[in-house]
Amino acid sequence: MSDSESIDGLYIHVPFCDGKCAYCAFYSVPYTAGAAEDWLRALERERTLTLGGRSGFAPRTVYFGGGTPTLLSRSQLERLLDLTGVAQAEEWTVEANPGSVDADRLRLLASRGVNRISVGVQALDDRTLTFLGRRHTVADTHTAVAALRAAGFVNWGLDLIACVPGVSRRQWEQTLAGALALEPCHISVYALTSEEGSALARRVADGRVQLLDDEEQLAMLALAEEKLGAAGLVRYEISNYARPGRECLHNLSCWQGKNYVGLGCAAASRVGGRRWTNRSDLKAYVEALDAGRLPPRETEELSPATDGFERLVFGLRTAAGVSLEEVLREARLEHSPVVAIWNRTLERLRGEGLLVREDGRWKLTRRGFEVADHVAVELVL
Ligand SMILES: C[S@@+](CC[C@H](N)C(=O)[O-])C[C@H]1O[C@@H](n2cnc3c(N)ncnc32)[C@H](O)[C@@H]1O
Ligand code: SF4
Repeated sequence: MSDSESIDGLYIHVPFCDGKCAYCAFYSVPYTAGAAEDWLRALERERTLTLGGRSGFAPRTVYFGGGTPTLLSRSQLERLLDLTGVAQAEEWTVEANPGSVDADRLRLLASRGVNRISVGVQALDDRTLTFLGRRHTVADTHTAVAALRAAGFVNWGLDLIACVPGVSRRQWEQTLAGALALEPCHISVYALTSEEGSALARRVADGRVQLLDDEEQLAMLALAEEKLGAAGLVRYEISNYARPGRECLHNLSCWQGKNYVGLGCAAASRVGGRRWTNRSDLKAYVEALDAGRLPPRETEELSPATDGFERLVFGLRTAAGVSLEEVLREARLEHSPVVAIWNRTLERLRGEGLLVREDGRWKLTRRGFEVADHVAVELVL
């Protein structure tokens, strides 16, 4: 990676969890103090090999995600903050799970420049939390929110999972009301998906669990939009709502195709026209870096067409929409035959009521938001 490439975001994937949620297919391993020490040693080396030569590395955004960053001990968190080597960032987020976060570590994070917390709330009744395989209670969520407030965090958000089988419309309404009562600046709402390899996928496959059908899902998501919108949270991306000015800058940059570096096993990076993803294997990650090598990873050179497609599709998922002219310029596609193809498809989708064009930007209509995956498929070259 050349020094001339400007890096907008830094992501660190903390791979530890205290168990496995029923729906989750993200890479994680059980937390042990020893595994965390090995990981930190390897991470420090990966950081040096990847960014070491850069003077004054100062990304605009930093994001510690996971996994469960808040499972790290206080001294491990301190080491992580040290090795990150960033003094301050416009936005510095840490994901925190209820039940594994306390005021002491939150104060440490605040004192070191972390200015945003994302809490994995998921549900606000204990029966649903058990169904999802979460290892915390609603009371833990309230304690975590009180602790982050006491540590001085103002910019914080929470994640909710919608469309959980067995949760009625009324219960979902209560969940939304309970989430709003906590007064977060940001709420992510993800419809439950059955991911290959998860416990949920096995239960779905053997008929013990039945997911909501498309119509039921759309109704639950529409209820979220209605209730969160009425409370002043703007749906700025398909799954994300924020008070104006509190959108997640890190995610917005990724969706806009800006350069970011991801460190840690399973982390992805995108710099210039290249994307690489470290293999989801902690042992192989530590072994390679202990031997002074970069970890095993998949590397992909993004063709202008792939780059342009991703910018178009991610941009369309945001309320701000996307300018085709900007996409073509950034992906170096201005003189390519794809211009005519995309213009034709976008016009057709406008005719079908899925897109509008406002102030030179293409945006999904309400119906378009509901079938965004279909819109993306139509734009595949
Ligand atoms: C990778 S998880 C990490 C966050 C953190 N470990 C936690 O548990 O809150 C990020 C978010 O993705 C969402 N998520 C993960 N798998 C999902 C699935 N199968 N269906 C719906 N949402 C999912 C959850 O809301 C979760 O908070
Ligand atoms: S949802 Fe979060 S806590 Fe649960 S297994 Fe996945 S990464 Fe770990």
